[in-house]
Amino acid sequence: MIKIEKNSKMVGFSAATIIARQLIKKPNSVIAIPTGTTPIPMYEAIVKLVEHRIIFTQKARFFNLDEYVGLTRENPMSYAYYMKKHLLSKIEKVQHDIPSTDTRNPEEEANNYEKRIEKVGGFDLCLLGIGVDGHIGFNEPGTPFSSITHVAHLHPSTIKRNSKEFGKTVPDIAITVGIKTIMKSRSIVLMATGTEKSKILKDAFWGEVTPDVPASVLQLHPNLTVLVDEKCATEITSSANDFHWMNL
Ligand code: PGA
Repeated sequence: MIKIEKNSKMVGFSAATIIARQLIKKPNSVIAIPTGTTPIPMYEAIVKLVEHRIIFTQKARFFNLDEYVGLTRENPMSYAYYMKKHLLSKIEKVQHDIPSTDTRNPEEEANNYEKRIEKVGGFDLCLLGIGVDGHIGFNEPGTPFSSITHVAHLHPSTIKRNSKEFGKTVPDIAITVGIKTIMKSRSIVLMATGTEKSKILKDAFWGEVTPDVPASVLQLHPNLTVLVDEKCATEITSSANDFHWMNL
């Protein structure tokens, strides 16, 4: 299903309500969560839902999708820091896991992370953003659909985009949950906002299913929700009649 919301804030709110429904149904749900600009409104909405005691997160188990290799947790560019800033410092203690940032042996940490996910039975719900190159997590174009959690070399377009934030020392390696691990989730929600993502949204969900566009694999998932804002939806709404599976 694709749902077009008015703006990025509403996309975030919509994603937060899906998390809320999941936690009401199963308080100890295992939930994969993304970082980046897109999910910030979702975290703001979750914090409000927790503050108003509509949802309780103490039993939830959150796993981040990815983390850069070579940064300490205290580094403001790390995703561990991002999570602390946008969620963890604002709600009661939750069970949260993220690949270790400053590990000397990233391959071993990637394997261990996959095992930690497996140990709790995989993801009940997986929230995703999408890169302009079609990546999900840090599964860049060309990543096999059979990949589990692994060390990823970032695509030049991702490095270029990140250089706006990092300056010269942009990390080029990350640990990411793999495509197979994502696809095993019981349900998946992908968020995309802004005109910058309108082309890749069309390629990913109305184009060929191919490792060249990693997010396209999600077309095969039986329980997928795509949340987009009006700016991002321009390319798909202009030719909506061609799209057989769009369920507005
Ligand atoms: P963004 O990143 O939300 O900062 O655009 C999304 C992603 O790369 O998954």
